[in-house]
Amino acid sequence: MLHIENLHAYYGKSHVLHGVHFDVGPGEIVALLGRNGSGRSTTAKAIMGMVESTGDVTWKGQPIVGRKPYEIAHLGLGYVPENRDIFPRLTVQQNLLLGQKGARQKGRWSFDDMYAMFPRLKERQHTEAGVLSGGEQQMLTLCRTLMGDPELIIIDEPTEGLAPKIVELVGEYLKTLKAKGISVLLIEQKLTIAMSVSDRTLVMGHGSIVFQGTPDSLRADAYIRKEWLEV
Ligand SMILES: Nc1ncnc2c1ncn2[C@@H]1O[C@H](COP(=O)(O)OP(=O)(O)OP(=O)(O)O)[C@@H](O)[C@H]1O
Ligand SMILES: [Mg+2]
Repeated sequence: MLHIENLHAYYGKSHVLHGVHFDVGPGEIVALLGRNGSGRSTTAKAIMGMVESTGDVTWKGQPIVGRKPYEIAHLGLGYVPENRDIFPRLTVQQNLLLGQKGARQKGRWSFDDMYAMFPRLKERQHTEAGVLSGGEQQMLTLCRTLMGDPELIIIDEPTEGLAPKIVELVGEYLKTLKAKGISVLLIEQKLTIAMSVSDRTLVMGHGSIVFQGTPDSLRADAYIRKEWLEV
């Protein structure tokens, strides 16, 4: 569904991605792992048209490199960036409404679905988003993106800074998305959650993919883990 080949990305003169290649299939959860600075967020931004890039990125057979971020979003790719991207002065509900405005048509998600998935957001629907806790803002960002009805969602470090209990919860929600047929590209630092929810794992090092395989094969590969993941 998402096919990436020979993807290069640049910040000015700095060449950050060096021929990245991987696929994400329908309904698949693929974890993109790697140390700080390995190029995971840049990969997300390159897919979403937010950084200068060259190479082949095709989405359902259509080349998308060089397109504008909003055009890419309209084709059904959702993006939850690593900084919690909410409108702090708007209420929870207004934030969700803004997400829906980006949708191509009436989506598969309603307000009630979001509130059923995250009861905490329902309780706080009329609260300004800026006063929510970090975990709640993370949930809100995810929900706002879902309201745009993506077929594939790229989520950049959703568990960063969250308490272990909430991290578990995020894992459950990712499985819910999968059950709804949504593909997920999960950028993570935490091996445990990535291993428990993903169908396949990718490891990135210095702007290239250095490993692709099932969670079990990554678990079994001490060399890759030591060389590219453990600190
Ligand atoms: N806006 C930018 N301008 C210049 N260089 C950047 C910019 N953003 C990232 N980089 C550089 O690109 C490389 C890859 O960064 P990237 O953010 O993709 O890493 P990452 O794997 O997401 O790691 P983390 O999120 O832990 O920082 C790093 O060397 C980083 O310093
Ligand atoms: Mg990052």
